[in-house]
Amino acid sequence: MPRFPRGHLNKNIAIYPGSFDPPTNGHLDLIERGSKIFDELVVAILRNPEKDPLFSVTERVGMLETLTEHYSNVRVDTFDGLTVDYAVKVGASSVLRGIRALSDYEYELQMALMNRKLRPELETVFMMPAEKYSYVSSRLVREVAQLGGSVKGLVPELVEQNLRGKLDPAYRLAEFRASRDERSEGRKSRARKKA
Ligand code: PNS
Repeated sequence: MPRFPRGHLNKNIAIYPGSFDPPTNGHLDLIERGSKIFDELVVAILRNPEKDPLFSVTERVGMLETLTEHYSNVRVDTFDGLTVDYAVKVGASSVLRGIRALSDYEYELQMALMNRKLRPELETVFMMPAEKYSYVSSRLVREVAQLGGSVKGLVPELVEQNLRGKLDPAYRLAEFRASRDERSEGRKSRARKKA
């Protein structure tokens, strides 16, 4: 008989903190895995006013809520300040983070040890996403999408659509500006020839 049987008041809660700008299939893979080992998983989006995000926090909350609505034990929230303070606030005993490749390890180890220094009672749990997502990051997804490349299969369809919606007007504007500048340059050169 365990000393502290897990009941309603002693749930095994984890937070999964991150920027999620945008959520990728790697994030979703980790949420799926996390939902299986924790009683409750809180996907916690950092509200970071210093960063210049592609998607607003509200947009990211909306996407993640839709993408995780079929999990009864997953919820989405936002936080600012220290991750460990937020974890304690929601009664979490673990911080879930994904490790894709060796290159992630150093940064993740530093964060995990700093978090342990701040709150020794919190455990960081590392999980690996499926191999096929081992090179997928939000930063690369943003970059490829912004430069007009395809991110099909790397992000959920909803995110793909939202990326298109977000970036298409920018492309149209850039194209419009380029052709306007070209026309204006043409007019100027014709005027110079006439003079
Ligand atoms: O998705 P990301 O950008 O890799 O997530 C990084 C995140 C949000 C987990 C990290 O920056 C973080 O925990 N920020 C909150 C501030 C904090 O607690 N800093 C000390 C971490 S050791």
